[in-house]
Amino acid sequence: MEMRFRIFRYDPKVDREPVYRNYLVSAEPEERILDCLNRIRWEQDGTLSYRMSCGHGVCGSDGMRINGRCALACQKLVKDYLGSEVVVEPLPFFKVLKDLVVDVDGFLSGVMYFRPYLISSAAPPPRERSQSPEERKKVEEVIRCILCACCTGSCPVMAENEQYVGPAALVWAYRTIFDSRDDLKLERLEAVNSQKGVWACVNHLECTRACPKEIPVTKCINTLKREIEKHRSGKP
Ligand code: SF4
Ligand code: FES
Repeated sequence: MEMRFRIFRYDPKVDREPVYRNYLVSAEPEERILDCLNRIRWEQDGTLSYRMSCGHGVCGSDGMRINGRCALACQKLVKDYLGSEVVVEPLPFFKVLKDLVVDVDGFLSGVMYFRPYLISSAAPPPRERSQSPEERKKVEEVIRCILCACCTGSCPVMAENEQYVGPAALVWAYRTIFDSRDDLKLERLEAVNSQKGVWACVNHLECTRACPKEIPVTKCINTLKREIEKHRSGKP
Protein backbone atom coordinates (compact mmCIF):
# COMPACT_ATOMS: atom_id res chain seq x y z
CA MET A 1 0.00 0.00 0.00
CA GLU A 2 1.00 3.61 -0.51
CA MET A 3 1.37 5.82 2.57
CA ARG A 4 1.46 9.61 2.40
CA PHE A 5 3.96 11.34 4.68
CA ARG A 6 4.22 15.04 5.44
CA ILE A 7 7.52 15.68 7.19
CA PHE A 8 8.86 18.75 8.98
CA ARG A 9 12.08 19.91 7.33
CA TYR A 10 14.36 22.57 8.69
CA ASP A 11 18.06 23.18 8.65
CA PRO A 12 18.63 26.29 10.77
CA LYS A 13 22.04 26.76 9.14
CA VAL A 14 20.53 27.39 5.70
CA ASP A 15 16.73 27.71 5.94
CA ARG A 16 14.89 30.87 6.98
CA GLU A 17 11.95 28.87 8.26
CA PRO A 18 10.67 25.29 8.44
CA VAL A 19 8.69 23.71 5.61
CA TYR A 20 6.73 20.46 5.34
CA ARG A 21 7.66 18.12 2.48
CA ASN A 22 5.44 15.36 1.08
CA TYR A 23 6.58 11.82 0.38
CA LEU A 24 4.80 8.73 -0.91
CA VAL A 25 6.08 5.40 0.48
CA SER A 26 5.17 1.78 -0.27
CA ALA A 27 4.75 -0.03 3.03
CA GLU A 28 3.21 -3.14 4.58
CA PRO A 29 0.73 -2.73 7.46
CA GLU A 30 3.05 -4.43 9.97
CA GLU A 31 6.00 -2.22 9.11
CA ARG A 32 7.03 0.55 11.45
CA ILE A 33 6.97 4.28 10.84
CA LEU A 34 10.74 4.10 11.29
CA ASP A 35 10.93 1.69 8.32
CA CYS A 36 9.10 4.29 6.22
CA LEU A 37 11.47 7.07 7.30
CA ASN A 38 14.42 4.83 6.42
CA ARG A 39 12.90 4.15 2.99
CA ILE A 40 12.41 7.86 2.39
CA ARG A 41 15.98 8.59 3.41
CA TRP A 42 17.55 5.68 1.53
CA GLU A 43 15.46 5.82 -1.64
CA GLN A 44 14.09 9.35 -2.05
CA ASP A 45 15.84 12.02 -0.02
CA GLY A 46 19.19 11.39 1.63
CA THR A 47 19.09 14.80 3.32
CA LEU A 48 16.29 13.81 5.73
CA SER A 49 17.71 13.74 9.29
CA TYR A 50 16.42 11.84 12.32
CA ARG A 51 17.94 9.79 15.11
CA MET A 52 17.62 6.03 15.43
CA SER A 53 19.73 3.21 16.77
CA CYS A 54 18.20 0.01 18.16
CA GLY A 55 14.97 -0.03 16.16
CA HIS A 56 13.27 -1.88 19.02
CA GLY A 57 12.17 0.58 21.70
CA VAL A 58 15.33 0.25 23.75
CA CYS A 59 17.67 3.16 23.01
CA GLY A 60 15.08 5.97 23.15
CA SER A 61 16.65 7.91 20.30
CA ASP A 62 13.74 8.16 17.82
CA GLY A 63 11.23 10.13 19.87
CA MET A 64 9.26 12.45 17.56
CA ARG A 65 5.73 13.74 17.05
CA ILE A 66 3.61 11.54 14.80
CA ASN A 67 0.16 12.85 13.93
CA GLY A 68 0.25 15.12 16.95
CA ARG A 69 1.38 12.54 19.54
CA CYS A 70 4.94 12.12 20.82
CA ALA A 71 6.08 8.53 20.26
CA LEU A 72 8.94 6.31 19.16
CA ALA A 73 8.94 5.86 15.39
CA CYS A 74 10.14 2.28 15.89
CA GLN A 75 7.07 1.41 17.97
CA LYS A 76 4.38 2.87 15.72
CA LEU A 77 3.05 0.67 12.95
CA VAL A 78 1.82 1.66 9.51
CA LYS A 79 -1.50 -0.11 10.17
CA ASP A 80 -2.24 2.40 12.95
CA TYR A 81 -2.33 5.22 10.40
CA LEU A 82 -4.24 3.61 7.53
CA GLY A 83 -6.34 6.06 5.55
CA SER A 84 -4.60 9.12 6.91
CA GLU A 85 -1.64 11.20 6.00
CA VAL A 86 1.21 10.72 8.50
CA VAL A 87 2.56 14.04 9.74
CA VAL A 88 5.98 13.69 11.34
CA GLU A 89 7.52 16.51 13.38
CA PRO A 90 10.32 16.96 15.93
CA LEU A 91 9.56 16.75 19.66
CA PRO A 92 7.86 19.99 20.76
CA PHE A 93 9.65 22.40 23.14
CA PHE A 94 13.07 21.24 21.93
CA LYS A 95 15.39 23.29 19.74
CA VAL A 96 15.60 21.76 16.27
CA LEU A 97 19.12 20.95 15.13
CA LYS A 98 17.96 19.58 11.79
CA ASP A 99 14.62 18.16 10.61
CA LEU A 100 13.57 15.63 13.29
CA VAL A 101 16.80 15.86 15.28
CA VAL A 102 16.47 17.99 18.41
CA ASP A 103 18.93 19.30 20.97
CA VAL A 104 18.57 17.13 24.08
CA ASP A 105 21.33 18.80 26.13
CA GLY A 106 18.86 20.81 28.28
CA PHE A 107 16.70 17.72 28.77
CA LEU A 108 19.66 15.67 29.98
CA SER A 109 20.91 18.53 32.19
CA GLY A 110 17.45 18.51 33.85
CA VAL A 111 17.80 14.78 34.53
CA MET A 112 21.35 15.24 35.87
CA TYR A 113 20.23 18.11 38.13
CA PHE A 114 18.79 15.56 40.60
CA ARG A 115 21.94 13.38 40.56
CA PRO A 116 20.17 10.30 39.20
CA TYR A 117 22.68 7.77 40.46
CA LEU A 118 23.11 5.78 43.66
CA ILE A 119 24.78 7.68 46.51
CA SER A 120 25.63 5.57 49.55
CA SER A 121 28.16 5.95 52.33
CA ALA A 122 28.07 2.23 53.04
CA ALA A 123 31.25 0.43 52.03
CA PRO A 124 30.79 -1.51 48.81
CA PRO A 125 29.89 -5.14 49.57
CA PRO A 126 32.01 -7.93 48.04
CA ARG A 127 29.27 -8.52 45.48
CA GLU A 128 26.41 -6.27 44.31
CA ARG A 129 24.30 -4.08 46.63
CA SER A 130 21.26 -6.28 46.95
CA GLN A 131 17.57 -5.43 47.37
CA SER A 132 14.65 -7.54 48.52
CA PRO A 133 11.89 -8.19 45.97
CA GLU A 134 9.66 -5.78 47.95
CA GLU A 135 12.29 -3.03 47.84
CA ARG A 136 12.80 -3.51 44.12
CA LYS A 137 9.06 -3.40 43.49
CA LYS A 138 9.04 0.25 44.56
CA VAL A 139 11.19 1.23 41.58
CA GLU A 140 10.48 -1.48 39.04
CA GLU A 141 8.25 0.71 36.86
CA VAL A 142 10.56 3.73 36.71
CA ILE A 143 13.69 1.75 35.88
CA ARG A 144 12.10 1.09 32.48
CA CYS A 145 12.79 4.70 31.45
CA ILE A 146 14.87 4.97 28.26
CA LEU A 147 15.16 8.79 28.27
CA CYS A 148 13.26 9.14 25.00
CA ALA A 149 11.86 12.55 26.07
CA CYS A 150 8.37 11.75 24.73
CA CYS A 151 6.90 12.69 28.14
CA THR A 152 8.71 16.02 28.31
CA GLY A 153 7.80 16.78 24.68
CA SER A 154 4.12 16.13 25.50
CA CYS A 155 3.86 18.14 28.71
CA PRO A 156 1.89 21.42 28.28
CA VAL A 157 3.67 22.89 31.33
CA MET A 158 6.92 22.93 29.34
CA ALA A 159 5.39 25.71 27.21
CA GLU A 160 4.49 27.84 30.25
CA ASN A 161 7.21 27.28 32.82
CA GLU A 162 10.75 27.60 31.50
CA GLN A 163 12.15 26.51 34.84
CA TYR A 164 10.38 23.15 34.92
CA VAL A 165 12.80 20.25 34.58
CA GLY A 166 10.07 18.14 33.02
CA PRO A 167 8.55 14.75 33.84
CA ALA A 168 11.48 12.55 32.81
CA ALA A 169 13.82 14.27 35.26
CA LEU A 170 11.29 13.60 38.04
CA VAL A 171 11.03 9.94 37.03
CA TRP A 172 14.80 9.67 37.55
CA ALA A 173 14.57 11.55 40.85
CA TYR A 174 11.83 9.12 41.95
CA ARG A 175 14.10 6.24 41.04
CA THR A 176 16.77 7.31 43.56
CA ILE A 177 14.38 8.60 46.24
CA PHE A 178 12.66 5.22 46.52
CA ASP A 179 15.79 3.13 46.04
CA SER A 180 16.42 1.34 49.35
CA ARG A 181 20.20 1.45 48.74
CA ASP A 182 20.44 5.24 48.45
CA ASP A 183 21.32 7.46 51.44
CA LEU A 184 20.05 10.86 50.30
CA LYS A 185 16.27 10.54 50.42
CA LEU A 186 15.64 13.73 52.41
CA GLU A 187 18.05 15.88 50.38
CA ARG A 188 16.61 14.52 47.19
CA LEU A 189 13.03 15.21 48.33
CA GLU A 190 14.09 18.78 49.13
CA ALA A 191 15.55 19.12 45.64
CA VAL A 192 12.30 18.17 43.89
CA ASN A 193 10.23 20.27 46.32
CA SER A 194 9.98 23.40 44.13
CA GLN A 195 8.29 24.99 41.13
CA LYS A 196 11.20 23.72 39.08
CA GLY A 197 10.32 20.24 40.35
CA VAL A 198 7.12 18.46 41.35
CA TRP A 199 4.96 21.52 42.06
CA ALA A 200 5.14 22.61 38.42
CA CYS A 201 3.09 19.53 37.51
CA VAL A 202 -0.66 20.16 37.37
CA ASN A 203 -1.73 16.68 36.27
CA HIS A 204 -2.33 17.10 32.55
CA LEU A 205 -1.44 13.37 32.27
CA GLU A 206 -0.02 13.84 28.76
CA CYS A 207 3.34 12.44 29.91
CA THR A 208 1.70 9.23 31.06
CA ARG A 209 -0.21 8.87 27.79
CA ALA A 210 2.96 9.41 25.77
CA CYS A 211 5.37 7.13 27.64
CA PRO A 212 6.27 4.20 25.36
CA LYS A 213 7.43 2.16 28.36
CA GLU A 214 4.06 2.57 30.11
CA ILE A 215 5.56 4.25 33.16
CA PRO A 216 2.80 5.93 35.22
CA VAL A 217 4.72 9.22 35.12
CA THR A 218 2.02 11.48 36.61
CA LYS A 219 1.33 8.98 39.39
CA CYS A 220 5.06 8.97 40.24
CA ILE A 221 5.11 12.77 40.43
CA ASN A 222 2.05 12.73 42.70
CA THR A 223 3.70 10.09 44.90
CA LEU A 224 6.69 12.42 45.26
CA LYS A 225 4.34 15.26 46.27
CA ARG A 226 2.74 13.05 48.92
CA GLU A 227 6.14 11.94 50.20
CA ILE A 228 7.17 15.59 50.61
CA GLU A 229 3.96 16.30 52.51
CA LYS A 230 4.48 13.26 54.75
CA HIS A 231 7.96 14.44 55.70
CA ARG A 232 6.67 17.99 56.24
CA SER A 233 4.04 16.72 58.67
CA GLY A 234 6.63 14.58 60.47
CA LYS A 235 4.84 11.33 59.59
CA PRO A 236 7.19 9.62 57.15
FE1 SF4 B 1 10.47 8.26 27.71
FE2 SF4 B 1 8.71 7.33 29.54
FE3 SF4 B 1 11.24 7.87 30.27
FE4 SF4 B 1 9.57 9.86 29.68
S1 SF4 B 1 9.36 8.42 31.41
S2 SF4 B 1 11.69 9.68 29.01
S3 SF4 B 1 8.35 8.96 28.02
S4 SF4 B 1 10.55 6.31 28.80
FE1 FES C 1 15.85 2.81 19.65
FE2 FES C 1 13.44 3.50 18.65
S1 FES C 1 15.35 3.31 17.58
S2 FES C 1 14.00 3.24 20.72
